[in-house]
Amino acid sequence: MDTDRLLARLLAPTMAEAVHPILHAIRARSTAFRAENGVWFVTGYGAAQSLLRSPALARRIPGHGAPPRPEDDLRVLEPPEHTRVRAGLADAVPARRMYAHRAAVAEIAARRFRWAPGAAIEVVAGAIGPYVGESVRSLLSLAPPVPPGSRHGRLSEREYAINLALLDVAGLETTTVSLANAVQNLLRDPAHLTRLAADPGLIANAAEEALRHESGAVFSSPRVALAPLRVGPGRIERGDRVVVVMAAANRDPAAFPDPDAFLPDRAGPRHVSFGGGPHRCFGAAFARVLIEEAIRRLASVHARSPLLIESARRSGGIAGRVEELVVRTRPDRLPERTPDR
Ligand code: HEM
Repeated sequence: MDTDRLLARLLAPTMAEAVHPILHAIRARSTAFRAENGVWFVTGYGAAQSLLRSPALARRIPGHGAPPRPEDDLRVLEPPEHTRVRAGLADAVPARRMYAHRAAVAEIAARRFRWAPGAAIEVVAGAIGPYVGESVRSLLSLAPPVPPGSRHGRLSEREYAINLALLDVAGLETTTVSLANAVQNLLRDPAHLTRLAADPGLIANAAEEALRHESGAVFSSPRVALAPLRVGPGRIERGDRVVVVMAAANRDPAAFPDPDAFLPDRAGPRHVSFGGGPHRCFGAAFARVLIEEAIRRLASVHARSPLLIESARRSGGIAGRVEELVVRTRPDRLPERTPDR
């Protein structure tokens, strides 16, 4: 089957198959190819890394076409406005505060991931979603009420309001998808959480593996080439549209041996789940804190009383994800201690 037919199968609205076998088949034919509709699809890890960071790819060609709306949203701005707005937002919600919020996030995790002895809970809508939502709101409650100035210039009230609202929702879906997949994979082999509880130094690595294995961010937003670019044997022309398939790059066997396996102690290159270049994920630091603290909490619960998956339901299709995950703990558990930090 040719690559265009594989792509059509992948993007079909009725598609219900597992995504990764199709992505593997596409990548095996070409790590970057120009589809019949003229859009470049980049599936190889090396090409994804360099194109995501390339200054020759932008959201749109300046001066061509109407700017997308809402025009003050970080995701659709281009430099110099993007640089100014992103810097202003980073003054209001700096990455160092995202890391410093770890203790508050751990406290939320302890409340949200709690099992009565012998009880089962549905963790996706019942724990992960509320945990991520409450943690993000708690972080944003520390943002100043009026836009702070930055060396790139001050944000207007409107720019500030639109982008704080963006922060409120931008990471909910992706973080929930990553965490649900992480929990399912960690519980598939009970030795994983036992090991992480005994050696919390491995938790950050396990979180990176969770982000690589399934992050919820399947495609980058479409870019347009401002200048011709080489990609493998191909040549992207000025004006061509480019989409990086991050879910495919993250499972490129040339970068990640045995790419479909979830290996919490995997060594090797960094995934591309947060994108790259000027539009790389603004909340990456907080996403890491959220995933790490949820895993820490689960490892601590599991050490007192094993957690077992009772049932799981996954949706198919390009946005396939763990929809429902019922997890039970044993009735004869040890008493709870202060969360180990
Ligand atoms: C596992 C969790 C997350 C993943 C995988 C993820 C992934 C991404 C990716 C791939 C992009 C860039 C898209 C592109 O360039 O095409 C992005 C942008 C963004 N993310 Fe995240 N994200 C996550 C969590 C978060 C969180 C928790 C927040 C906020 C607290 C957040 C806020 C944003 C914002 C505001 C942008 C736009 C940045 C810009 O255009 O300059 N993300 N994210």
